[in-house]
Amino acid sequence: MSQLYDAIIIGAGAAGLFCAATAGQRGRRVLLLDHNAEPGRKILISGGGRCNFTNLGTVPDRFLSAGPHFAKSALARYTPHDFLALIEAHGIAWHEKTLGQLFCDGSARQVVDMLLAECAKGGVELRLGQPVGPAEHRDGRFHLEGASAPALVIACGGPSIPKLGASGLAYELARQFGLKVVEPRPALVPLTLGGDDVLFRELSGVAAPVEARCGKAAFREAALFTHRGLSGPAILQVSSYWKRGDPVEIDFVPQVASGWLGQAKRAAPKKALRSVLGEHLPDRLAQALGDRLDLSGDLGNMTDKALAAAEQRLSRWAFMPNGSEGFAKAEVTAGGISTAELSSQTMAARKMPGLFVIGEAVDVTGWLGGYNFQWAWASARAAGVAV
Ligand code: FDA
Repeated sequence: MSQLYDAIIIGAGAAGLFCAATAGQRGRRVLLLDHNAEPGRKILISGGGRCNFTNLGTVPDRFLSAGPHFAKSALARYTPHDFLALIEAHGIAWHEKTLGQLFCDGSARQVVDMLLAECAKGGVELRLGQPVGPAEHRDGRFHLEGASAPALVIACGGPSIPKLGASGLAYELARQFGLKVVEPRPALVPLTLGGDDVLFRELSGVAAPVEARCGKAAFREAALFTHRGLSGPAILQVSSYWKRGDPVEIDFVPQVASGWLGQAKRAAPKKALRSVLGEHLPDRLAQALGDRLDLSGDLGNMTDKALAAAEQRLSRWAFMPNGSEGFAKAEVTAGGISTAELSSQTMAARKMPGLFVIGEAVDVTGWLGGYNFQWAWASARAAGVAV
């Protein structure tokens, strides 16, 4: 005899915990399963241990998806202010760091404890540290792990960072129940450099505020050179838009107005180009870029045309990444279970009554900066009130 529940949720991460709490507090009997012994492992290490739990700038166009309008409904019905109200109700101190990003003053553990307390309030049964086996659907119920329920919520995320417990189970279940999957790819991930760009690896550890661009996407934040290529927030952001073969363009001097090198020449013709670059960039970077610009000597000896060309190059330095650091290092997975298969109101599968998909398992991926957790909370709430 299987144990009877109203809903079984697979994955005790951000989305699964919040969905379970929501449904449980509505009086639903909920079973929450995870193969990790500890719930919310990604929450615990997120935001450098302080969890960037939401972003006040949450708007739908800061999310990537093959269904560009899909996230609107859930995001509008559960906003950053709603989650903040919950954080405050639990007495968790928080601060805004930059760009609308909200973090705990203390530790990410407070967010996990809050979610567990909310689950306890809803009488949610947690079963952790056991592999979650295959699910079956018969007689209008989902059966797995000796339990059955008319609703099954897939909240087991994407394959990014397997060492934290990530797996492809969400996609296996999707395929089993006939839902299409948009090809998953690593996102918010460092990019690797090869070819001529390899020379930049000597700058490993150097960071600078830049504007990084890929196609129409542009982010003004810090970039960091690494021993494998490029990282830092600006690069992680563009990586979500990057495809193999695309160049990534970097403006190393986004803060200066066009014509700045000509002006510098008129103001101080005896200055060397490299020292002018050094006024705007870290020394090692100024040196490396100066070497590659192939202009030596004083500004006064350079033609305005050559300086304009140098300016152009500095503001559109094209790198050709040869790959990314992959799922092992990707903060999130872009792609996932197709939004075309789901109701944007409830996250329910259109073709399979009772099946729901939430969080990172869905083909909705946020920018860096608290957007992915906001999607986890909003999609979890949408399903939690519907199961
Ligand atoms: P999540 O990955 O949280 O949970 C999935 C759960 O399913 C896990 O508990 C896992 O163990 C379980 N599971 C997986 N496979 C299973 C299987 N086969 N059987 C049973 N259980 C299984 N976002 C943000 O907004 N702000 C931030 O500060 C950060 N910081 C950050 C840092 C790092 C290092 C990473 C890797 C990621 C972030 N993120 C982030 C992204 C954020 O962590 C992510 O978007 C959410 O955790 C997604 O929530 P989900 O609940 O969908 O998946």
